[in-house]
Amino acid sequence: MNSKDIRQKFFDFFQSKNHHIVPSAPMVVKNDPTLMFINAGMNQFKDYFLGNETSPYARISDTQKCLRVSGKHNDLEEVGHDTYHHTMFEMLGNWSFGDYFKKEAIEWSWELLTEVYGIDKENLYVTVFGGDDHDNLPLDIDAYNFWKEHIAEDRILNGSKKDNFWEMGETGPCGPCSEIHIDLRSQDEKAKIPGKDLVNKDHPLVIEIWNLVFMEFNRMANGSLKFLPQKHVDTGMGFERLAMVLQDKKSNYDTDIFTPLISKIETISGLNYNSSKEVSIAMRVIADHSRAIAFAIADGQLPSNVKAGYVIRRILRRAVRYGYTFLGLKKPFINLLVPVLESQMAEIFPEIAKQKDLIIKVITEEENAFLRALEVGIQMLEKVMQQTRDEGKDIVAGDVAFELYDTYGFPLDLTELILRENSLSVDIDGFEKAMAEQKNRSRQASAKETADWVVLNKSDNNEFIGYDNLESDINIVRYRKIIEKQDEYYQLVFDKTPFYAESGGQVGDKGFIQSDDEKIEVVDTKKENNLTVHIVKSLPQNPEKTFKAVVSEKSRTLSANNHSVTHLLHFALRKVLGSHIEQKGSMVKEDMLRFDFSHFEKISEEKIKEVEHIVNTMIRRNIPLVEKRDVSLKEAKEMGAIMLFGEKYGEKVRVIKFDESVELCGGTHVPATGQIGMFKILSEGAIAAGVRRIEAVTADAAEDYFNSKLEELNEIYAQFKNSHNAVKSVADIISENKMLHKQIEKLNAAKAGNIKEDLKKSAQNINGVNFVSAKIGADMKTVKNLVFALVKELDDVFVIIGSHDNGKANLTVALSQDLIKEKSLHAGNLVRELAKEINGGGGGQAHFASAGGKNADGIDKALDKAKNILSEL
Ligand code: SER
Repeated sequence: MNSKDIRQKFFDFFQSKNHHIVPSAPMVVKNDPTLMFINAGMNQFKDYFLGNETSPYARISDTQKCLRVSGKHNDLEEVGHDTYHHTMFEMLGNWSFGDYFKKEAIEWSWELLTEVYGIDKENLYVTVFGGDDHDNLPLDIDAYNFWKEHIAEDRILNGSKKDNFWEMGETGPCGPCSEIHIDLRSQDEKAKIPGKDLVNKDHPLVIEIWNLVFMEFNRMANGSLKFLPQKHVDTGMGFERLAMVLQDKKSNYDTDIFTPLISKIETISGLNYNSSKEVSIAMRVIADHSRAIAFAIADGQLPSNVKAGYVIRRILRRAVRYGYTFLGLKKPFINLLVPVLESQMAEIFPEIAKQKDLIIKVITEEENAFLRALEVGIQMLEKVMQQTRDEGKDIVAGDVAFELYDTYGFPLDLTELILRENSLSVDIDGFEKAMAEQKNRSRQASAKETADWVVLNKSDNNEFIGYDNLESDINIVRYRKIIEKQDEYYQLVFDKTPFYAESGGQVGDKGFIQSDDEKIEVVDTKKENNLTVHIVKSLPQNPEKTFKAVVSEKSRTLSANNHSVTHLLHFALRKVLGSHIEQKGSMVKEDMLRFDFSHFEKISEEKIKEVEHIVNTMIRRNIPLVEKRDVSLKEAKEMGAIMLFGEKYGEKVRVIKFDESVELCGGTHVPATGQIGMFKILSEGAIAAGVRRIEAVTADAAEDYFNSKLEELNEIYAQFKNSHNAVKSVADIISENKMLHKQIEKLNAAKAGNIKEDLKKSAQNINGVNFVSAKIGADMKTVKNLVFALVKELDDVFVIIGSHDNGKANLTVALSQDLIKEKSLHAGNLVRELAKEINGGGGGQAHFASAGGKNADGIDKALDKAKNILSEL
């Protein structure tokens, strides 16, 4: 059964059990401070479990793109070394939100595996939660009894909290789980050791394929468990592992999900996948990582130096260095795998095909940059090796290896390999110590303590009413305290709120809440999952009172101007540059806006003007806002709405339309475009390969911008006595200035010529040497020309010129070549000695040298001293 059919059969099966099939959420998580990437199918439903929101469907099923590379679920180091872990993988899942529970979940999983997919029951084992004293939880006897109806009791194993109690993170929804494991070994192997002894023992052929979680609890910050409002089911099956089972393979990488990638890597490297252990590992790493990188970029996460971007950069670098070290690939190669992914995934995940050019460009650029860094690292390492040998040692210090790793991204295993080839080694303990110290430093810097919610009121529908109101009476339904880097603040949740929470690039609203006896400032509003949290510095004395919540109208109006204008800008960019323009990020503040988009070259001044003109024309037309809330995605598409990759859209969406500009958006907007006043682009430039950024201003900020430019211009006019043609006046001044410069040069040359003739006449014969000495006011360039001319035109000459220019003293000494040998004179040595008289220093060559100093009064003394030196020869 090919992988497409496997996926489809899963959907068909759960559809027949009345599940609604939904698309995968984007892999990159926004609006959740506890998670960077989706690491389980249930993430996108977290709020349904917690009871913050109600699912529109009681039963859902899907395949979810997951990435397990950070936090509680991190498989990165195993990937490639074994044959069944991945960074990015698909998780097939079915969910019940307060609907069916253990009985059906168990029954259906068994039916699908054994009857639909036809897996031999004799190869299956199941585990149930065996209880935990610490959490005061008993054996999951219900699950045990339900399984008993399908499978022999000696195949039902009790599991520990580690394996059979599933938790999303340190806090949050959790519950006991039941896993289904499969034994893929040969009959001979099975006869030697029974499969049940190998369950959960990291055997590559006795593996977990499906996890059925029975969500009942919420883990609190203090470690205790609280019952969730309802009981739910969350299951997750590894799609790649299932394909291995159904395609009768011994490794996920031998399934049709990976073989096209592996064979492309074989072609690129000219090596055979099975040629050695290292080669196989490297090819698996690259095949796996290329998927994670491409999908992350498609979902809007560009590689960068911080947070989620840095995780992606590290995955990419891991793939590059396995290719570099074990496959001899010294040129970018990961980007060449994108077309393979495109053809494999086009049907189920169209985002790769739609953004192929951008993905290739970004990956290529990253690969090039890292390959360059590797070259620099190798050069540094060569120096380090030489130094180590010079010191008679054969171990490179750990902190040096750490610096290479930390500053140049040079991986430790590569350092070790190169050192080994040179009969050297590295102090691993020292490296680990330096690494631990750095981790400790960054942990301390980012430590954040989050207390549990204090719930005041259960009626918590958390509705946003701020599209229509800037004020409302509200009640605080819960609050909690956060301590972050010495800073202490509180998050408040209201029953309903007029405050817009930061999202879609738009900053959160500010304002205040007021009761009859106190007023508390709201400094920011953010989203945590789908919960709107209001940030306040202090907790109200009487939080259970009713408050009037008031949003700052001024800041909301300015933000709305800037948000609406990003839509107009997006529209204008697509019109002027083409429909390949995809929004890649935006920031909408009160005083400016930033818009990032895919485009491959600098935008000319003319095109920028064209874009500005389209936007400003739309502003002047005062186009009224057409806002449609709660329309279906289908209807929105029919209206021509632009959908962004990496955004999670619900079934019902909000459409924002200003004439031809139609977008899906949750932000706050102007009632009509005229309010924006005017729009001005301040800058345009690249921020990453294939991604450009425009920064712009509107309304008051645009007015300020133009006013400050006009003020500058007025000052210039004033300097020109209010000439009516300042541009011409400036051009005249510049050309006059050039002409004057030339004249000065000419005059200086003539003056130097006269001085030269006078100096030639003044030469004194001392000890057979033509000694020329003078003190003049001239710049260094003139003096240099002068002394060279004197040396050329006089024989056996010793010239010393003391000059002063803008308060600084200089000495310049020049000698004929003959004197250098005959009299053992050296201009550099002489000038160094003479410079003492002008409180300075200098030096140079034997025939020419100069020195600078602070004491112009010492010039005469220096000249006398030169004469004395010569007289005493
Ligand atoms: N949340 C569970 C897991 O990730 C089941 O979907 O394993």
